[in-house]
Amino acid sequence: MQKFYVALDKSPYPITVGSDLLHQPGLITPYLFGEQVCIVTDETVAPLYLETIKNTLKNYQCDEIILPDGEEYKTLATVELIFDKLLSNRHTRSTTLIALGGGVVGDITGFTAACYLRGVNFIQIPTTLLAQVDASIGGKTGVNHPLGKNMIGAFYQPRCVICDIDVLKTLAAREFQAGFAEVIKYGLIQDAAFFSWLEEHCEDLLKREPNDLGHAVLRSAQIKSAIVEKDERENSLRALLNLGHTFGHAIENLAGYGNILHGEAVAIGISLATELSVIKKWTSTDEMNRIKKLLQKMNLPIQWSPEISGMALVKQMMNDKKNIHGKLRLVLLKNIGNGIVTDEVSEEELYQSLLK
Ligand SMILES: NC(=O)c1ccc[n+]([C@@H]2O[C@H](COP(=O)([O-])OP(=O)(O)OC[C@H]3O[C@@H](n4cnc5c(N)ncnc54)[C@H](O)[C@@H]3O)[C@@H](O)[C@H]2O)c1
Repeated sequence: MQKFYVALDKSPYPITVGSDLLHQPGLITPYLFGEQVCIVTDETVAPLYLETIKNTLKNYQCDEIILPDGEEYKTLATVELIFDKLLSNRHTRSTTLIALGGGVVGDITGFTAACYLRGVNFIQIPTTLLAQVDASIGGKTGVNHPLGKNMIGAFYQPRCVICDIDVLKTLAAREFQAGFAEVIKYGLIQDAAFFSWLEEHCEDLLKREPNDLGHAVLRSAQIKSAIVEKDERENSLRALLNLGHTFGHAIENLAGYGNILHGEAVAIGISLATELSVIKKWTSTDEMNRIKKLLQKMNLPIQWSPEISGMALVKQMMNDKKNIHGKLRLVLLKNIGNGIVTDEVSEEELYQSLLK
């Protein structure tokens, strides 16, 4: 078991990574304030892990909310449903919300905690690879609006994050693999040695070998935390975490949500961002080949569906909420381990990368 802190000035919090963590009350109870807890989870995760968590909280008023499974329930209506339960069961300002699930449950629960009685305590117990290495860390919480994904939200940090890698055993292969797009991203933007380690260990990682998996989650969580510490509100450095995401969001949107997983769209986005980095003469072709090879070895796609036209993709990217004054803002690579945020990409270069 390894533990480190996200060293934020106002609210530093620990992230614990390891095996057999869900059974350990000592990881949760020191971070509770009062006698009340409400666990928010979904109908897939509940039968697998809810009882284990409840058993560690026997001395508390422990309520539970089991949400239907799916991104389509990441809405204000679901937040209201949780408010109803909290209010009718008289949860006070000293209650704690525990998010037990993937990024959907984590985002909804964090946002509900930020709003309920103007903010109550909350704990993240992420159960997907994507949530362990990304969504549960850094305090971005929120829900979708019919006019856009993650449009309603708040920065609200958890009190602690518990990443038990044993829970990843029950994750569907496609969901598990999709999480690796984010893991690979961390190596690409900040840590060339970690990228090489991933190349060497990709087969064992796919077999979910616990030691390798523990290292991949730990190193990813450390890289994300270090970036969040320096730029909690995404004024500068945190934008690096969007490598592959501007392309990815456009692809997700055009493919229709639910038809492609977020991590899969990010993998294609990383591949396109690498092509563009080669066109800019920053990244070498050799490095690009290494990147594409690793994505493919992790069973991730590197090409978008031929049904989506390049023009539609560019148009969608120009609408990205991260653009500034209508200028496309992208994360590219100087080389492996060295990401860069740039607005020096012409539409012509963008089209060139899409034609590759
Ligand atoms: N807040 C952030 O910084 C941030 C970052 C990245 C993504 N996100 C958000 O995260 C969401 C995607 O998260 P996700 O990929 O975890 O998807 P998800 O939460 O939908 O989970 C994927 C599926 O796996 C199931 N599942 C979860 N844990 C399981 C387990 N241990 N065993 C078996 N099944 C399990 C879920 O029920 C679901 O069906 C999106 O809404 C995205 O916007 C947030």
